[in-house]
Amino acid sequence: MIAASISDYRELARRRLPRMFFEYIDGGSYDEVTLAANVAHMRALKLRQRVMCDVSKISTKATWFGREYPLPVALGPVGFAGAFARRGEVQAARAAKDVRVPFCLSTFGICGAEEVSAVAGDLLWYQLYMLKDRGFMEGLLHRVAALGVDVLMFTVDLPVAGTRYRDIRSGMNNPGAVGLLNRVMQGAVRPHWSYDVALRGQPLLFGNLVGAVKGAKQIDEFMPWIVANMDASVTWKDIAWVRERWKGKIVLKGVLDAEDAELALAQGVDGIVVSNHGGRQLDGVASSISVLPRIAERVDGRTTIFFDGGVRSGMDVLKALALGADGCLLGRAWALALAGAGQRGVAHVLELLRREMHVAMALTGIADVKDANSGIIDAA
Ligand SMILES: Cc1cc2nc3c(=O)[nH]c(=O)nc-3n(C[C@H](O)[C@H](O)[C@H](O)COP(=O)(O)O)c2cc1C
Repeated sequence: MIAASISDYRELARRRLPRMFFEYIDGGSYDEVTLAANVAHMRALKLRQRVMCDVSKISTKATWFGREYPLPVALGPVGFAGAFARRGEVQAARAAKDVRVPFCLSTFGICGAEEVSAVAGDLLWYQLYMLKDRGFMEGLLHRVAALGVDVLMFTVDLPVAGTRYRDIRSGMNNPGAVGLLNRVMQGAVRPHWSYDVALRGQPLLFGNLVGAVKGAKQIDEFMPWIVANMDASVTWKDIAWVRERWKGKIVLKGVLDAEDAELALAQGVDGIVVSNHGGRQLDGVASSISVLPRIAERVDGRTTIFFDGGVRSGMDVLKALALGADGCLLGRAWALALAGAGQRGVAHVLELLRREMHVAMALTGIADVKDANSGIIDAA
């Protein structure tokens, strides 16, 4: 199968990955109502076609934190990516670097910050959760800052972990001998993945956490530490704790309510991500795109607004920008492309986004993406 659209990579990923990793990427929490709504509400939005507007020179450039980027997108944090393709975070970061798009490394990435930094350079952003082990967090912040990382995505919509039924059914969450047997069997029917990723992609550990979990030699052995360390007591005052230890930009990821956007502003964050974690946390909350206009109106230009959830095309990026976002993060779009075709797949997704944005801008009559506003959305 030749991928023509971003969505085609879902099928390529399904064919290539052991079932549990495909379900892990593709799935959402509980009945996946919010996951479906993220995509459906985005699709339901209609762009207004306008003609005769001189769109001979199109600019998709975005400026965030005083720096210009060629596209208003970044690769958002996705855990485990090194299990989707060999040294997956490095492959994705290379594709992003080639077109000067930021790559945000998850704390739960397989490749550690140093390994990814070596390819991403100054396009590396870093994502962190609040952990109970503040000493470890502090060390990690120093370690990442020493690599020259300037943007910290502080994810706040995971004080407790949502339940994904698909991960239970696929055996992803199943430790012990039965789980191991299940995994071996799933790997056996995906020989390309087994050779390329499981064998040649070692070490399959959480590169950022090695050292925190003494003696851990398998990925399973990190899990008890991770579960025990997610800090459910996190409050707004903890932003000050992070601020004291992080001199770069802080972007709060997981804001879905205008009141919370206001509280985030009061803490002096440099940006927010309007996000419901791709429908992977609380099922039944609003789709990201449905709350974006409200939040943008409340923020009123006082901070940088990133958006994620259901972005599957350049048209979707344009819709989010029209409704108040300054930029979009990709989640499943890049993770499935990585799984389906490695670095080449991620590069193709970024090129598709660029081309789709060009067409969408030309036919909504805007030459500069910075001019995208609700006027290009069909309100009828
Ligand atoms: C497989 C997978 C792993 C993820 N891991 C993280 C993570 O480690 N940290 C984080 O802040 N968000 C994580 N997310 C959420 C994404 O950053 C993003 O918010 C979400 O995927 C956006 O929705 P979309 O996939 O519909 O574009 C993950 C998402 C997926 C699909």
